[in-house]
Amino acid sequence: MQAVGRPGRSAPQRVLVAGCGTGVEAFVMRRRLPTAEIVAVDFSPRSIVWAKRLERAADGVRPITFRVGDLTDRKIADVVGGDFDLITCHGVLSHLPKPSVVLENLAACLRSGGALYLGVNGEAHPATRLRPWLASFDLAVDELREERRLRELLGLWDALNDDGSGELATMSSSYLGGDVCGPHFNNWSLARWRSEANRVGWEVAGTDVLPMALHLAAERKNDRVLYPAGVGELAARLDQARPAGFHRIMLRRAPAGALAVTRAGDGTRPLHWTGLYTVRFSQSAERRTVKVVFNWAAFHVRFEHELTAGQQLALRALMAAGVAPDGWTRQWNRTAGGRRLLWLWAGLGVVVVGDAAGAGVRG
Ligand SMILES: C[S@@+](CC[C@H](N)C(=O)[O-])C[C@H]1O[C@@H](n2cnc3c(N)ncnc32)[C@H](O)[C@@H]1O
Repeated sequence: MQAVGRPGRSAPQRVLVAGCGTGVEAFVMRRRLPTAEIVAVDFSPRSIVWAKRLERAADGVRPITFRVGDLTDRKIADVVGGDFDLITCHGVLSHLPKPSVVLENLAACLRSGGALYLGVNGEAHPATRLRPWLASFDLAVDELREERRLRELLGLWDALNDDGSGELATMSSSYLGGDVCGPHFNNWSLARWRSEANRVGWEVAGTDVLPMALHLAAERKNDRVLYPAGVGELAARLDQARPAGFHRIMLRRAPAGALAVTRAGDGTRPLHWTGLYTVRFSQSAERRTVKVVFNWAAFHVRFEHELTAGQQLALRALMAAGVAPDGWTRQWNRTAGGRRLLWLWAGLGVVVVGDAAGAGVRG
């Protein structure tokens, strides 16, 4: 998240957990970012009481500020404060009738150059097919009312489906109440979430599956048709072909009028090394080029490219400085092959393009 959402910056110092429930997500953030100031908000006073109780049980670490507040309230920034450089909102917007209202309100809480992480349902979420099927048996799906009958039907569903969603019939009541039954479900494609976010000035900076999906395309040499789509467009197209059940999306504020596709490393905006990959260089047989192997162990993404000696030196300079030195991108941009390589690296998460204040990230 740090690499994709906040290129060239240190770890986030002020973090907002929007829709924190009983605090689990906030506790995870504190473990990952022990020096950050963390504020967590939920509109359920009962959940906040629980969160505070759980926090008291884990002493000796920097306290989390828990607040009761409604994310759909235009004045939510008065409750939680502003100037956050990372906001996380996981498992919340899929259940709200107008997610764009929350997206707009959260923008008011963000520091310039900050990022918003969204965890939201995708089209392939099991509830997309499950809910109409359950309703066809006259089962109420807008709330968890007929749990016994629901579990019977889920038993049949489980027997017929082997779709990776697990044994739904044995899930807890709280899971069934939130992820199968409920008054409102936005199980949307990435394209739909993207357009919802774009409408209120957010732009997709990356998704968790984009590097892996683009890698699959590139491995079979099927990525040419995607060139030179921007990061958001790439993520949306790949999701259409291979729909996700759940999206993990990093968003940044789009500068006004900057939503048009521009090329990676267009020479006007800095290029940052994300540090997600380890890199190994080796001389190729004919000695005029260098083989570079990129490895992102956490996602099992590994690929290699042949670089000229000049490109290899440029890459080493970028890796050492973290941000491309003056003239670096202009030079790389001189050839079509160089431009395409930068585009691919942006999509695979090797580099990000954008200024430190969060101007548009395009692949
Ligand atoms: C599925 S839970 C996710 C909790 C937490 N983000 C996590 O991943 O562990 C959704 C949470 O969003 C909260 N929520 C829903 N609508 C909200 C709103 N309008 N304002 C604040 N919190 C809201 C609910 O109370 C619930 O605690």
